[in-house]
Formats: sequence, C-alpha cells, structure tokens
Amino acid sequence: MQKKITVIGAGNVGAAAAHWALSRKLGNVVLLDVMEGIPQGKALDLWQAGPLDNFAGTIVGTNDYADTADSDVVIITAGLARKPGMSRDDLLAINVEIVKTCAQEAAKHSPDCVMIVVTNPIDAMVHTAFKVSGLKKEKIIGMAGVLDSARYRTFLADAVGVAPQDVNALVMGIHGDNMVPLVRLANVGGVPITDLLDQEQIDEIVKRTQTGGIEIVNHLKTGSAYFTPGLAAVEMAEAVINDTKRVMPCAVYLEGEFGISGYFLGAPVILGKAGVERILEFEMTDEERAALEKSVEVVSKQMAATGL
Ligand code: LAC
Repeated sequence: MQKKITVIGAGNVGAAAAHWALSRKLGNVVLLDVMEGIPQGKALDLWQAGPLDNFAGTIVGTNDYADTADSDVVIITAGLARKPGMSRDDLLAINVEIVKTCAQEAAKHSPDCVMIVVTNPIDAMVHTAFKVSGLKKEKIIGMAGVLDSARYRTFLADAVGVAPQDVNALVMGIHGDNMVPLVRLANVGGVPITDLLDQEQIDEIVKRTQTGGIEIVNHLKTGSAYFTPGLAAVEMAEAVINDTKRVMPCAVYLEGEFGISGYFLGAPVILGKAGVERILEFEMTDEERAALEKSVEVVSKQMAATGL
C-alpha cells in the first residue's frame, strides 16, 4: 500500500516538498493550505508531471484537514517567510499561531504520524508543534540541520573540488546565525578538511553556511529559499517512510544529551519508522560546547516567546 504524506502550506517550500516527495516516490501526497485554490492548482499541476517523471503516487490539493487523515508523515511548511532585513525571529509571533493550528489539526487526523516542522524559526516552531499536538517527542522533528549541512557540504566540496556527496559534515544547534558547523568532524572521503583547506578558507565557509539562508533572501527579496529546504524535509520523510535508519542532523528534543535538557536543537539522529530512533551523542571539545551554548541561549528566548 502507498504511504501517505501530507504537506501543510502550499507556498514555495510546501510545493517544492510535494514535488520532491512525488519525484522520490515516497507515496501519495496531500497538499493543504488555507488559501482556496492554491493547493488545488499546484496539486493539479504536479499531478500532470506524473507521466513525465514516472511518479508512483498521486497528489491532491485541499483546504480540508479531513483529507489528511491517517498520514504517515506530515510536513509543516505553513507560515510567513523572511524578506530582506528580517531575522527568522521576526517571524515568530505570526508563525506560532499558524503552526499551532496546523499541528493540532494534523495530529487530530493523523495521531500516529511523524511530524516534520519546517516553518521558521524552526527550533521554536518544533517546540510549538510538540506542545500542542500531543505527539511523543520521538515523532516531532525539526528540519534544519539537513539543509544547513547540505549548504556546508556544498561549499566545502566546491572549495576542495570534489563531488559534494563525498563530503561528510555536520551542522548542529539552532537554525540561525549561531548554528554550529563542526569543523573537526568534517571530512572528504574520510580525510579531515583541516588537512585540505587552510583556516581562512574554512572560516569563510563556516560563515557562509551560517548566513546561507539570508544570502538567498537578499537575492530573492520577496522570500526565502525553497528547493533545498523542501528536499531536506523530504530526505527526512524518506528515512521515516522507508525505515532506512539514515543519520541526519535534526532539531530534536534533548533530555540530557550534550548536557542540554528541555530544548529542541539540532543534533545527529537515526531516523526510522518510529521517527527519532536514537540521538547520536559524542564528546565535544570545550570550544564546540561553548558554541552550542549560544544556541541554547537563543532558543530559550525563542521558546519563552512562544508562550507555550
Ligand atoms: C533558510 C530558511 C529556510 O535557511 O530558513 O533558507
């Protein structure tokens, strides 16, 4: 039987996620939005790409949560995106109300789903979804680390001149300027990047990764990135749906791991049919710990601002 994936929010990120989910043959897709006509129109458009891209599943667009019933995975993308001059935090007050409704309604119709939250500021929005949905912590995952690590890997691969899939690199912590692209553990086919690039090049790449989202916002002016954010969410959904046990950095609820308790923050995890199956904890250096502490400071303020 086909699996069912609901994508909430038919904006750029949601439409991209729906597209990638069909293209990757994850199952049948439901695209939901409050705007009448938008999910229906985009779904029809995507449906008609089936013969050309050999889709295995179908897609429907809807404004009704009843159509999302019994989804295996729900991806929440609904909310405002940044414009130039805005931080992800500027979106918090508006998006918290949107995500509350989406998470509550989606969980009501799909109580066994794994929920992937993409709406910004991601770490606070995943906390919001956790608080209102009633889903267990293993079933609520924030998308950020997969996107940030993809950016980091792309820039590293470009600098070294290798295929990006041979770069292994991890970004932890918050999805914001204080994210932590780990240098010590980044490698190209097992060879440390510190042996392949000089410190100045690495510093530049770390900075560019941390500001990767705003670099795109400044070009677009009317919104933020969507192709890779959409794919990053689908990459996570695929690991859950196919129970692959892939390891990805995701915003997950920490309870003592890395010395942090009570916050959703980016950490490497094993993803499978149960959602977050294990958090892969490792010994950090003092410098890395201090960098992660900055993420904790910011996310604790964001969490308080959600009022939940
Ligand atoms: C970005 C947005 C999705 O980083 O936060 O592009």
